[in-house]
Amino acid sequence: MLVMTDIVKRYGPTLVLDGVGLAVKAGEVMALMGENGAGKSTLVKILAGIEPSDQGRIEIDGKPVAIRSPGQARAAGVGYVAQELSIIDSLSVAENVFLGDSSIGIMRSAAKLAEMARPYLDRVGLDYVDPLALAENYSVAERQLIEIARLLSRKARIAILDEPTAALSESEIIRVKAAVRAIAADGCAVIYVTHRMPEVFELTNRVTVLRNGKSFAPMETATLSIDTLIEAMLGRQLGKMFPPRAARLGAEAVRLESCMTPGLKAPVSLSVRSGEILALAGQVGSGASTILRLLAGVTPLGSGAIFLEGNAYAPKSVADGIASKVVYCSDDRKRDGIFAVRSVPENLSAPALSAISRFQLLSGSLEKGHIRSIAAKFGLDERYFSRLAGNLSGGNQQKVALGKWIGLNPKLLLVEEPTRGVDVGARAEIYKHLRELADGGLSIIFASSDTQEVLGLADRIATFFHGQLVQVVAADTATAESLTRDVTRAEQAA
Ligand SMILES: Nc1ncnc2c1ncn2[C@@H]1O[C@H](COP(=O)(O)OP(=O)(O)OP(=O)(O)O)[C@@H](O)[C@H]1O
Ligand SMILES: [Mg+2]
Repeated sequence: MLVMTDIVKRYGPTLVLDGVGLAVKAGEVMALMGENGAGKSTLVKILAGIEPSDQGRIEIDGKPVAIRSPGQARAAGVGYVAQELSIIDSLSVAENVFLGDSSIGIMRSAAKLAEMARPYLDRVGLDYVDPLALAENYSVAERQLIEIARLLSRKARIAILDEPTAALSESEIIRVKAAVRAIAADGCAVIYVTHRMPEVFELTNRVTVLRNGKSFAPMETATLSIDTLIEAMLGRQLGKMFPPRAARLGAEAVRLESCMTPGLKAPVSLSVRSGEILALAGQVGSGASTILRLLAGVTPLGSGAIFLEGNAYAPKSVADGIASKVVYCSDDRKRDGIFAVRSVPENLSAPALSAISRFQLLSGSLEKGHIRSIAAKFGLDERYFSRLAGNLSGGNQQKVALGKWIGLNPKLLLVEEPTRGVDVGARAEIYKHLRELADGGLSIIFASSDTQEVLGLADRIATFFHGQLVQVVAADTATAESLTRDVTRAEQAA
């Protein structure tokens, strides 16, 4: 149905796509894979009319088409869900579903629009969502599903989803997968970009890999092993994904005693030792990220007490946390992850720019060697140094967001979704370096929706459900099944 041939794209001196091809049949799900910065988003943006190509042809149903604007792409039957969410919080859910749809007159009443949005919302599992409510009332996962509902409403024949599940947890991914299967079953050609391996094998029919500006001939997913796929993406075999756990731990570094804060339904007591990596596992709203925000100084302590190396610790702001060498890498890259209009070295050397401008706490400069070593630790290539951070690919932005905190020499590192959108190769690098930092005495607490990451990276795992701590277990005694059982507790009991 879709054939893209010989696509070339340069950004300044950088040749991102060097004669790439992509062909997708009706009713099939084609995975588009490759390392961070390989050009996946660039390729699909060309098809969606968002970026112009320098060269190349696009054919749909055997006929050449010119796509030079999002409008032309839509007219050609191309629907697109971008890597970064494009939901407008201040509009209703229904308005978001029909956003930018010129065939929907602005005169339609809110009630009519809501009625029209209903079937699309139902199809992505949002049957409980009120189309008249503002989008801001819904979670990242739900907003991601609203984007997919928008794609459905456009009756696209070619559907592009660029990392739709990067920010989602297991149970939400199930909903996205169901929606994607339904779209393909309707005869749509689906292009699916992801770094999550299990999805590739469960959902897709074929895989196209991009590497060094070139595309490989598509491979049938059914005949593919995970090692072959990784080797095609990285151009090398991947060693071990996870480093060995801590050989021995230091003294207690952080202790929470019966802590309560908005977002928790029962007091939480926990402790982490120096050199230990603790995973917080739970679905959205479980309380896992609440604990990170509490320790970071984003959410105030209601009752109970926190001790940092034996001293009472009650941060009232992120700057307070930083002053105590507690740093927080949130999952909101856009809001507080990176400074999009600054260069990569500036980002890496000024980890607390907001704190600096407000409190003049820190000098914002690190020497070059230090910046290089941080970049190397997080698998970030030096050729990106001259770029503005906002122009980096999604996964590379994540590496900058994580790397910049390390320059502060923290005692406690709090991370939400440490490898969201990061490719398999860089992921292994990040795990290795987080473990090295822990071996050097750092305590790390991370929240993650990725089961493999929780099981593989952590020394211990604290599971959360509906605002309560379920239990804390040694990671080597946990399994994917036990973890899933713990984080979906009441659903099982019900
Ligand atoms: N506006 C821009 N200006 C300059 N360079 C850009 C711009 N947009 C993208 N690039 C560069 O093009 C390359 C490809 O980026 P792209 O976003 O397509 O990668 P990707 O394969 O989607 O990666 P990821 O898995 O991290 O999302 C990267 O090196 C990126 O830095
Ligand atoms: Mg991308």
